[in-house]
Amino acid sequence: MARHRHRLAAAAALLLLLLSSAAALSSSAAEGEEDPLIEQVVGDGEEEDAQLDAEAHFASFERRFGRTYRDAGERAYRMSVFAANLRRARRHQRLDPTATHGVTKFSDLTPGEFRDRFLGLRRPSLEGLVGGEPHEAPILPTDGLPDDFDWREHGAVGPVKDQGSCGSCWSFSTSGALEGAHFLATGKLEVLSEQQMVDCDHECDASESRACDSGCNGGLMTTAFSYLMKSGGLQSEKDYPYAGRENTCKFDKSKIVAQVKNFSVISVNEDQIAANLVKHGPLAIAINAAYMQTYIGGVSCPFICGRHLDHGVLLVGYGSAGYAPIRFKEKPYWIIKNSWGENWGEKGYYKICRGPHDKNKCGVDSMVSSVTAIHTSKKEE
Ligand SMILES: *[C@@H]1O[C@H](CO)[C@@H](O)[C@H](O)[C@H]1NC(C)=O
Repeated sequence: MARHRHRLAAAAALLLLLLSSAAALSSSAAEGEEDPLIEQVVGDGEEEDAQLDAEAHFASFERRFGRTYRDAGERAYRMSVFAANLRRARRHQRLDPTATHGVTKFSDLTPGEFRDRFLGLRRPSLEGLVGGEPHEAPILPTDGLPDDFDWREHGAVGPVKDQGSCGSCWSFSTSGALEGAHFLATGKLEVLSEQQMVDCDHECDASESRACDSGCNGGLMTTAFSYLMKSGGLQSEKDYPYAGRENTCKFDKSKIVAQVKNFSVISVNEDQIAANLVKHGPLAIAINAAYMQTYIGGVSCPFICGRHLDHGVLLVGYGSAGYAPIRFKEKPYWIIKNSWGENWGEKGYYKICRGPHDKNKCGVDSMVSSVTAIHTSKKEE
């Protein structure tokens, strides 16, 4: 039986190989959890169309993002990856009709390459999530919360940054939460250093597996908060600028501008998340980024989205209803600051649905933490 299935799989694989390019094969394999379901839901009727469009779209993609490839072979391979991503964007569009999906600056990367280079949330060990200390957030009252709220309108959110080709999302999520908490406490927005965490934070889970923050190879926001409590705090972005790769630690304690005194982990509950957001400032959150590679704008609300968390981002606000094509019901959403530059998504931001019918979409509610208390440095430049 097992051998029969094996032979069947081999035959299917051979067929696939004959039908599709190597790139399409590797991308569908790398897509993992979402793909089999998607193939079931959506047929492949538009495959040929996409293939025809691909050449023209690819040429304009190259111009728009200034791509040059090593040689003709590399270009041909990248075009096949691009074509596979066009098909994938169409599937995403059908599964996620309230958002717009299409060509992005990541369109010549396989999902595997994309995941390895532009995300960076390491897998937490179950017991080690909160670094051993008690950090469970107290339950906050939720009555009287505003219908719409956006920390950008209150000056608590700095410019959109770009993690580049480095799995350091976790450090941007962490710095964003601290920038916000520091602003709430001092009225001053300090843009803080991710590179300090990339170079110097090797804090580990307080569990037997001892998984640790490790620069461009991934990390977690909660362990980064623990590191910041122990090390004393963060320098400014200006003092310790982003390099996009791991270097030796050049942390200078005398240049700390923001310190974490305590942080808390918020339960998987939309109302508690909203209440903590309004009270403590932008929140460090994790999400499944499967739909983000093709995201252009709108409120993302995929019918099917895995809850395996692979990307750290910053929750800065929420809205009661998103703009959407008239035929779709408008949906309430979270506003998320990403770290892929302003030339991705809605000027660097992502919207994902929330509300009683769309709880924890793509795992967005399941790993949320906030800086609840800070020290501020007396030193002024
Ligand atoms: C830190 O915050 C948690 C709640 O998230 C609280 O239980 C704990 O007592 C706080 N620790 C300190 C030292 O204030």
